[in-house]
Amino acid sequence: MNLTRRPRRLRRTASIRALVEETRVTVNDLIMPLFVIDGQGPRQEIASMPGQQRLNLDDLVTECASLAAIGIPAVALFPALDPTLKDEEGSGALDENTLVLRAVKAIKKNIPELTIITDIALDPYTSHGHDGVLNADKTDVENDRTVAILTHMAVLNAKAGVDFVAPSDMMDGRIGAIRESLDEAGFENTGIIAYSAKYASAYYGPFRDAVGSASAAGTNLLGKHTYQLNPANRREAQMETLLDEQEGADILMVKPAGPYLDIIRELRDSTDLPVSAYQVSGEYAQIHAAARLGWLDLPKTRDESLLSIKRAGADMILTYFAREVAQNLAK
Ligand code: PBG
Repeated sequence: MNLTRRPRRLRRTASIRALVEETRVTVNDLIMPLFVIDGQGPRQEIASMPGQQRLNLDDLVTECASLAAIGIPAVALFPALDPTLKDEEGSGALDENTLVLRAVKAIKKNIPELTIITDIALDPYTSHGHDGVLNADKTDVENDRTVAILTHMAVLNAKAGVDFVAPSDMMDGRIGAIRESLDEAGFENTGIIAYSAKYASAYYGPFRDAVGSASAAGTNLLGKHTYQLNPANRREAQMETLLDEQEGADILMVKPAGPYLDIIRELRDSTDLPVSAYQVSGEYAQIHAAARLGWLDLPKTRDESLLSIKRAGADMILTYFAREVAQNLAK
């Protein structure tokens, strides 16, 4: 053939391929989510998330130290509470001595340079597993009353020393309200990572096992469809992220990540704020499950999944693979 353009010339050798490589995942992009439990007990394996464990406070600090040592810049903390501490109102979230606040203080004391992100939502604290409090006839999550609780919760988290609060609840107006309360309380340097485009996704299943919030999620009560986004909607995600930006979010988030690469790209093209993406528990679990069956190569699929999220436009990725990917990059 008499071809002017032969694109394969640029794929001929490994060194040429390296030169023209457009996207690279680095350790700086990775945020490790961690589950914390009370007491002195041993690490608890999470069945649907192979390799992930619930950690007591001491193990959590040890884990964070080793993550920081391999260059992971940030962790996101999720408490798995004893069911006896949960109630309809999620009042444990406003307990000044609640587990996650003790975890933040312990990490900050030992590894001050590690960035800490905490989730702002009531699901670890409510007996029904919803992210907010229910209305009188228990048919829906009440928006404004939930926001009032979340603003209080965010201030407690800021007081404990978190670098970023990450509202994952999808209530209307919560970013503005949280920003205002943080500023009023003197925490103008505490940032907000807004779960802006958080979809009502089936991919959260393993996480709900991990924190024990599975009973909500569409089983005994309503699903989370009255607050999380409909997976069919793209424009609505744009609108939500724009609102969060206007209300003062520092970083925006798309969640899940892999099945929503179009949303990540669109957001990247329409904002100048950093964009984060959360490769959620179900995305992690499905790669592990297929690998266990011998149907996919785990490291290759894992790396490709993260590369794709980065290529779509994410500046940072919350992923349960963070530790092992960082270890591999350091080799
Ligand atoms: C809840 C929350 C969820 C996740 C993070 N924060 C689950 C939910 O909305 O029910 C899911 C994370 C994952 O699946 O890895 N506020």
